[in-house]
Amino acid sequence: MADEEARVALVTGGGTGIGRGIALGFAREGMRLALAGLEHAPSAENQYERSHIGGYSAAQAVASEIGRRAIAIDADVADAGSVDAMFESCLDAFGRVDVVVNAAGVITARPIAEMSEAEWDNIMDVNAKGTFLVNRAAIIRMRAQGGGGRIINIASIAGKFGSATLSHYCASKFAVVGFTNALAKEVAREGITVNCICPGIVGTQMWTLLNDAFAEPGETPEQSYARAIERLIPQGIPQTEEDMAVLALYLANAPHVTGQAINLDGGASL
Ligand SMILES: NC(=O)c1ccc[n+]([C@@H]2O[C@H](COP(=O)([O-])OP(=O)(O)OC[C@H]3O[C@@H](n4cnc5c(N)ncnc54)[C@H](O)[C@@H]3O)[C@@H](O)[C@H]2O)c1
Repeated sequence: MADEEARVALVTGGGTGIGRGIALGFAREGMRLALAGLEHAPSAENQYERSHIGGYSAAQAVASEIGRRAIAIDADVADAGSVDAMFESCLDAFGRVDVVVNAAGVITARPIAEMSEAEWDNIMDVNAKGTFLVNRAAIIRMRAQGGGGRIINIASIAGKFGSATLSHYCASKFAVVGFTNALAKEVAREGITVNCICPGIVGTQMWTLLNDAFAEPGETPEQSYARAIERLIPQGIPQTEEDMAVLALYLANAPHVTGQAINLDGGASL
């Protein structure tokens, strides 16, 4: 297929983990890719406890891996101006946007009495407000190019049931699930589908952080991870970035599936 006929997918958080896996899966299907990542966060009050988070550099590396059909964009999903600029960069490069995957997200683990307002705000700003900003900007562009499109938000099984010390993260992911359901109904007659993927446990950098936070005294991060899988996943194995790519590709193609929040979790939500 000629380059200009290939569908264009914009993937936030596209340089690492689940976003990267989905981007590589889409690239294998011949799509053109705009990969967004944030290089410098506005403050160090985030899961990384530093402002340099390197998401843009990571997106550049994935874009190089894919080749001439991919570009990288430095963007903050929690900032409306940055989100608009991200879409404009995608349109400048490729002329359109057909599929949007919002995989950017952050997590911390904290008992409620120790949770600061800034920590709550950061999780809600990136995960919940970021979803609103990215979806709003996507709908505006999809309408402007004549309608039709696919939006896939990466929520979590934490958007289906609560987990101790993740009250802020669960609130943000429940928000993504509800938002997706409502927006799907709003745009259903426009050929635009809006769905969520709810992953269980995927061994990305996000879990590197959780392994430390969830470790029992004397436990190594590897032991903590193995215990989380044993406790949460009936199949007893983690899910993979490739699993997420398979479902994302299905949703990128399926015209009549909308408003869904599909668990891909080895049975964790049974
Ligand atoms: N790994 C899991 O087990 C799991 C489970 C359920 C849901 N999720 C969700 O999947 C998504 C991807 O997470 P992951 O596991 O691949 O971890 P990850 O840390 O590799 O991916 C998160 C990405 O978001 C980017 N990011 C952070 N703040 C940003 C901002 N303000 N603007 C733009 N980009 C920003 C990071 O740079 C990173 O590339 C997240 O939404 C996460 O909540 C992950």
